[in-house]
Amino acid sequence: MKASVEGEKVILVPYMREHVPKYHDWMQDPAILEATASESLTLEQEFDMQVSWTQDPLKQTFIVLDKELVVGDFIPGDPHVEAMVGDVNIYMNDMDDPQMAEIEIMIAELKSRGKGLAQESVLMMIVFAVENFNIHAFHAKIGESNKASLNLFYKLGFKKISYSEVFKEVTLELPITESSREKLHQLIELQKQLMLAPAIIGPSRIGSSCNPAPLKSDWPVKQFSDELLDM
Ligand SMILES: CC(C)(COP(=O)(O)OP(=O)(O)OC[C@H]1O[C@@H](n2cnc3c(N)ncnc32)[C@H](O)[C@@H]1OP(=O)(O)O)[C@@H](O)C(=O)NCCC(=O)NCCS
Repeated sequence: MKASVEGEKVILVPYMREHVPKYHDWMQDPAILEATASESLTLEQEFDMQVSWTQDPLKQTFIVLDKELVVGDFIPGDPHVEAMVGDVNIYMNDMDDPQMAEIEIMIAELKSRGKGLAQESVLMMIVFAVENFNIHAFHAKIGESNKASLNLFYKLGFKKISYSEVFKEVTLELPITESSREKLHQLIELQKQLMLAPAIIGPSRIGSSCNPAPLKSDWPVKQFSDELLDM
């Protein structure tokens, strides 16, 4: 699906051809390759990968734009390479359960880390996947030494379900239940209110456990046609 989704701190846009050179630069960093369990590709292979990712019906990929780095107004269909800082993906690759999605996040640009961009991007992807693909559970596979990523997913309510001794990797799971919807909804609301009024947040303003909220956000989703995107 070709859509962009605008949050408080990030805009998620489709992975376009124009993004590939910078993406390829990021993937030259051995630390990024290790953290994302990726292999180094040539630039030509990266262009092929962009095409295959955007055509694969089992995969949804967004490039993460840091809103503080967008030059001028955000224009749907424009790659805004100047603001690209990472990506967020889901793969619906479990043949036994097509509504289970594996989720991955990367904020490659060091200057954009520690600002809450990964948290907002993952929340936005979860909402997008529940609303558009009816996903009922998410998995995240994370290296056991990747404390930043483990903390991020634990904070969002994921729980450990298995460990691979061979890959030194844990698998975390987030089933979309009434209670996880409520927690995610509260995190979304908290994120919005922190952006609006950092000093006046109180628990009473972010929902009540007696009144579970639906997993919905009012992040604007803009959809645009393939012709606009040259993908
Ligand atoms: C992991 C990663 C995505 C975090 O991105 P980020 O935008 O800096 O994270 P956020 O600012 O949204 O942080 C959200 C939460 O993640 C955890 N976290 C993020 N960075 C952390 C760090 N360096 N140390 C410990 N916890 C960290 C914290 O719980 C944080 O919440 P808090 O700020 O309330 O403490 C980023 O470091 C990255 O892309 N690393 C390389 C690729 C990678 O490891 N991807 C995950 C593969 S599964």
